[in-house]
Order: sequence, then structure tokens, then C-alpha cells
Amino acid sequence: MKTVVLRKPAGIDSLDLVDRDDPGVPGAGEVRVRVHASSLNYHDFGVVMGRLPTEDGRIPLSDGAGVVEAIGEGVTEFAIGDSVVSCFFPGWLDGEPTMADFSTTPGDGVDGYARELVVRPATWFTHAPEGYSHAEAATLTTAGLTAWRALVVDGGLKAGNSVLVLGTGGVSIFALQFAKSMGATVIATSSSDEKLERARALGADHTINYRRHKEWAPQVLELTNGRGVDHVVEVGGPDTLPQSILSCRVGGHIAMIGVLTGVGGVVPTVVLMLRQQRLVGLIVGCRQHQVDMVRGIEATGIKPVIDRTFALGEIRDSFRFLQGAQHVGKICLQF
Ligand SMILES: NC(=O)c1ccc[n+]([C@@H]2O[C@H](COP(=O)([O-])OP(=O)(O)OC[C@H]3O[C@@H](n4cnc5c(N)ncnc54)[C@H](OP(=O)(O)O)[C@@H]3O)[C@@H](O)[C@H]2O)c1
Repeated sequence: MKTVVLRKPAGIDSLDLVDRDDPGVPGAGEVRVRVHASSLNYHDFGVVMGRLPTEDGRIPLSDGAGVVEAIGEGVTEFAIGDSVVSCFFPGWLDGEPTMADFSTTPGDGVDGYARELVVRPATWFTHAPEGYSHAEAATLTTAGLTAWRALVVDGGLKAGNSVLVLGTGGVSIFALQFAKSMGATVIATSSSDEKLERARALGADHTINYRRHKEWAPQVLELTNGRGVDHVVEVGGPDTLPQSILSCRVGGHIAMIGVLTGVGGVVPTVVLMLRQQRLVGLIVGCRQHQVDMVRGIEATGIKPVIDRTFALGEIRDSFRFLQGAQHVGKICLQF
């Protein structure tokens, strides 16, 4: 079967397409899945660039979607032919978070989905939403579930809430879509006016170019009659957090998600305290969150925004495209 491995030293040119043995038949509690698609995340990019060091020969990519080809003894949740999508934390099924690293995450601490076949415990997957293509389903594992958890699980999003999303990458566009589908008002920022046009076409009510407005909090306050937004989906990190705190209402919620501007910095703690905001760190979500999200997607009918799709053998080009940051929404691999 075709498989992609990441050689050492890491880098985009260290991604090699190789032939590997068929993984065989599933044992008790396992499923054999023919993987048809994956999607790229900033996290995968970190692995490929060696910023998140992994074993030599690691099979990259956390997201995987495909079809169940065989089931092992005792598997009742899936049948042969079912469309499934992988889980980011295969061991975190439900309840409170139990991990603070990526040691069990496919494509990082363990082998991922840049391959045609896997045999894994059935609990490493959930059903994909009805009517989704494999590429669409593959966007849910990381980006979709992160946005869902930020707004719905941790944020308790309600109709009438206002949501600020930063940039037009995978997580932010999902957050925009979930927020609109659930009756919220959305303010989106971007470095590019063309991308902001796309965001408006996807339902953003207001847009701000953060290149032109380096301090965008005053714009957000103006757009919310001085109140600030109920939720910020904070994918920027240290350079954007101070503006996010100023953009968020007193008592509002900031989902601390991303590292786009770095991994540490100065937090205006007194402003956060005075504004009595909830700043909540999160990494993706558990299997039950994914099951709930799939149900939510089936009810609202939202479809992921896929900017471009590559073949498995074009994985180097797909990461170069991600690095260029020209995309809106998701970049997928289909095979
Ligand atoms: N904690 C978690 O569970 C979790 C899960 C998924 C992702 N993440 C993190 O969240 C971030 C986004 O991930 P992704 O996969 O959605 O990335 P992505 O698809 O590669 O999106 C990147 C986009 O972010 C925007 N951006 C870059 N710098 C920005 C800035 N200073 N202010 C505002 N927007 C900026 C750009 O959009 P424009 O060109 O429109 O400006 C860029 O295209 C990454 O740091 C990733 O590691 C965390």
C-alpha cells in the first residue's frame, strides 16, 4: 500500500512516498479502514518542519477519512462499507481532558493517515456525517472539532451571540460556519481583502483587515456598540491575544487555540482580570465531542470549505501550498 513517511532531518523534502505491507485483518475490537482522504493542519506542518520532533519514518497527518473494509470480533458500532473519520485523541473517549501533549496523536506521537490502509481499534474513528465526501469528512478531525469545542462545548454558544474569528484558515472558517449556522453574528479578520470577500460570502457579518488595522480591537468594539464580542476564537497567540482581550466583552470567553505568532509572550493580566473574561486553553477534543459535532453538522447541513485538493503523491506540494498561506479554509489530500 502507498504510504508517506517523514525522514530525518525533517522538512517538506523529507516526505517520501513508499510501499508498505498490507496491515492485514482486524483483530477483536478493531476495524480495517481504506483511507481515502486527509486534510492538512498547521500542526501537521509543525511535525513536517521538525518543530514537533517525531521518530524517523513517522507516517504524518492526524486527519483520516475512508471506508470500513472489515471489522473484528465484537465491533458493533460500525459495519462494512461505513464512512468513518479519525479521532485526534484516540484514547480520550469522553469526560475531562486527560492529556497535555501529542504523544497519542496520529501523525505526531504515533503513525498517522498518509497511507491507504489502517487497522486500528474501532474507537479511533467515528461515523462521518451523512452526505459528506471523504475529503470533507477528513477536515473534521482537527480543524472542525477544535472550532466546535471552542464555541459549542467550552463556549456554550447561543443564538444572538457575537463571535470574532482571526484569519481565514481551517479552524477560523469552521468557527465562522458553526457560529452562523447556530444564529450568531460573526466578525472575521484577515490579512487580505480578497479573503475577507470570501469570508463575507460564507456569512461573516463584518470584516476587518488586520494588516491595515494593526490594532483592530477599536473596530470590534465599534461594530458591537462598545460591548465587545461574546467569544473570540484565538488562533493567533501572543501577538493577537492583547487585542482579543480588548475585543471581548466583560465576562466574555476567549478560546486559546493557536500559535500562529509564537508560543509565549506578555499577557495583559490586569485587563483580563478587570474584564472578568474566561481565557480557556484547549487542544481539539474527545471522541464524544466528535460524535456530537457530526450530529450537529447533519442537522445544520454545513459543508467544509476546501480550497484545494492534492493527490497523496503530491504531499510535498500540498505542504508548500499550506506554507504559502494563500488558502481559505482547508487543504485536502485525496487518494
Ligand atoms: N489548540 C488546538 O487544538 C488547535 C487545533 C487546530 C489548530 N490549532 C492552531 O490554530 C492555528 C490555526 O490553525 P489552522 O490549521 O486553522 O491554520 P491554517 O489553516 O494554516 O491558517 C492559517 C491562517 O491564519 C491566519 N493568520 C496568520 N497569522 C495571523 C495573525 N497574526 N492574525 C490573524 N490571523 C493570522 C492567516 O489567515 P489570513 O491570510 O486570512 O490572514 C493564515 O492563512 C495554528 O496555530 C494551529 O497550530 C490549534
